[in-house]
Amino acid sequence: MTTTAIINLDLPGPIISRHVYGHFAEHLGRCVYGGFWVGEDAKVPNVRGIRADVVEALRALRIPNLRWPGGCFADTYHWRDGVGPREHRPRMVNSHWGDVVEDNSFGTHEFLDLCELLGAQPYVSGNVGSGSVREMAEWVEYLTRAGDSPMAALRRAHGRDKPWRVPFWGIGNEAWGCGGNMRAEHYASLARHYSTFVRDQGDNKVYRIAVGPSDGDYAWTETMMRSFDDLAADPVAPAAPFQALSLHYYTMTGSWSDKGAATRFTEDEWYVALSRASLMEEYLTRHSTVMDRYDPHRKVGLVVDEWGTWWNVEPGTNPGFLYQQNTLRDALVAAVHFDAFHRHADRVVMANIAQTINVLQAVLLTDPDSGALVRTPTYHVFEMSTGHHDAASLDVHLRDVPTVESDGRELGLVSVTASTKDDGALVSLANLDIGSPAEVVLDLRGRTAQCRGARILTAPTPASHNTPHSPSAVAPAGFDGVREHPRGLLVELPPHSYLTAELQLT
Ligand code: AHR
Repeated sequence: MTTTAIINLDLPGPIISRHVYGHFAEHLGRCVYGGFWVGEDAKVPNVRGIRADVVEALRALRIPNLRWPGGCFADTYHWRDGVGPREHRPRMVNSHWGDVVEDNSFGTHEFLDLCELLGAQPYVSGNVGSGSVREMAEWVEYLTRAGDSPMAALRRAHGRDKPWRVPFWGIGNEAWGCGGNMRAEHYASLARHYSTFVRDQGDNKVYRIAVGPSDGDYAWTETMMRSFDDLAADPVAPAAPFQALSLHYYTMTGSWSDKGAATRFTEDEWYVALSRASLMEEYLTRHSTVMDRYDPHRKVGLVVDEWGTWWNVEPGTNPGFLYQQNTLRDALVAAVHFDAFHRHADRVVMANIAQTINVLQAVLLTDPDSGALVRTPTYHVFEMSTGHHDAASLDVHLRDVPTVESDGRELGLVSVTASTKDDGALVSLANLDIGSPAEVVLDLRGRTAQCRGARILTAPTPASHNTPHSPSAVAPAGFDGVREHPRGLLVELPPHSYLTAELQLT
């Protein structure tokens, strides 16, 4: 069967925010310590304690934002413990993740230094679960206030004169779970309360992100949206205490007690993973529909600030560290998510993969012994997609898509999205079929186009992955199989592959 993708090149839709390609760094396992941060005395080349190779790799992704310090950790974190001379910082126990001692050597200044090195915008998650309104308000003041104030003075005493710009602020994390096991009504009141004190300082405008639902918890979304209805006399945002709701959804093939293995999976588990990843589309549609009732002009965003695969940890590693390998299957899970974000560009303003290094669906892995840095297959999907950042989404209509039944759903095996910027367009195509190629006609309408070049990500087996010994087993390669066709272009995608084609519009 030949699939047709009708792409209207002359009808640009909503802008795909570059922030949907965002990242997440929690104090969890080896994400911060050993991932981003090695300390100034480490043998690994570093800039003020931050791994230089990690900065280089993430800059190549044009990393738009970085969420920190959690996750569940955020609701146990007290920011004053992580400022001032390192040798005087108190220690604490990271009770969520491995029960290990956290020495607070990576704190506020180190995080903002990292963001500056990366060229990424900071997204700070404040502590609602075990913090206070005052603590959160003072953190905002410490970070963003110019001029004279007690917190600005403390920041200066710690060596930083200029305030930082912190555009994104989380009002807690997973309040329905590790953030306090709250009921929706209770958290909704707290979110209004805390948000009132997360103030814009000078021209630092804060985009407040309240805890939204997990998976398909539409009742939570309804409660949150209803909670500020009285403040929003008209649909323009300033009256709203927060500007966005978060959404968390993880892909696994099993259950929370046995999530499935990262690299050893059956054909059935291949499809279950992709079918469950495709649920993101359904969640976005349904949550957005609930939000539409209160916010028909879509001023309130959805921030998918935790998404990705969650597998059983690699044998022999600390179960509390959530370290897992990453295969071509993970890469295609990422492609399925990005396609969903592109299609919902009018509502999804940001997304953060969980997590950037050494935790869950990481884009980078570091070897604890040799220090080697490995780019995962997921990294390459991010890199191949940079052309979608801040481009206008294009409407894509698919016809004759082969399907498979998996996990009680019909999974379409070909996924295509496209965007346009200036006189170019980028088309992403994924063939989710584990064993068969897919033929796709790009039926290009509205403008004429030539293919400027294409790249493909695939490998001999669906479980192929990268290691320090074989760092490029899965890596993008040039692809010359995009041919002219009477209706546009014809692409033959190998099995289990992801492809991007750059078009020149004329
Ligand atoms: O990303 C790992 C954890 O998953 C986060 O800390 C938490 O928010 C979620 O449950």
